[in-house]
Amino acid sequence: MGLSIVGISGSPTSPSRTSVLVGAVADALAERLDGTAELIELGPLLGELGAGPFRGDLGPAAREALEAVESADLIVVGSPAYRATYTGLFKLFFDHVGQYSLQDIPIVLTATGGSDRHALLVEHQMRPLFGFFQALTLPLGIYGNQDEFVDYRIESPELRQRISTTVERIVPLIQLNLTPSQSRELARPAVF
Ligand SMILES: Cc1cc2nc3c(=O)[nH]c(=O)nc-3n(C[C@H](O)[C@H](O)[C@H](O)COP(=O)(O)O)c2cc1C
Repeated sequence: MGLSIVGISGSPTSPSRTSVLVGAVADALAERLDGTAELIELGPLLGELGAGPFRGDLGPAAREALEAVESADLIVVGSPAYRATYTGLFKLFFDHVGQYSLQDIPIVLTATGGSDRHALLVEHQMRPLFGFFQALTLPLGIYGNQDEFVDYRIESPELRQRISTTVERIVPLIQLNLTPSQSRELARPAVF
């Protein structure tokens, strides 16, 4: 069976440039790795995710999204820049993800923003969050300026090029690490 690639878009709006970017990266990886790509948009899950701090507080759609991420072989995350970091919605979702569920799982970091001024949110905010999860954050992140999209399509050849460069550079790293389900089986300490 092919790799299961799950994209998570932390934009509360629809349509969303971030969803377009995450979807494009997930699809390119699926094609290159002969896997299947699924895109999860968090906007419609906001109410369920805010219902309480515990998994039992959540509705079925939020629980299903969490289970998809926790069982993925490869994850592509993306968020719009809001106040120079990822959205509250993005964090709210990952607050519910199991502390050890992403351990050693390869993750591609992406974001979009209104200018290039906050491009480093990928490195300075997103990467440490997934460091907490002991995930395998891949070395290249992708940031798209909103001006690189027209009518919620990627219009900029430079952004398309950044996506394909990233995919080409990270595919060998993912292939080196192609035992994520085995990694998941490794003992996890039951502590918080
Ligand atoms: C509440 C809010 C805060 C924002 N803050 C920033 C910001 O700090 N830096 C930035 O570059 N863009 C900021 N933006 C612009 C969005 O990040 C940008 O339009 C993004 O591409 C929207 O993505 P989406 O279409 O997926 O929702 C903000 C937008 C909103 C609505």
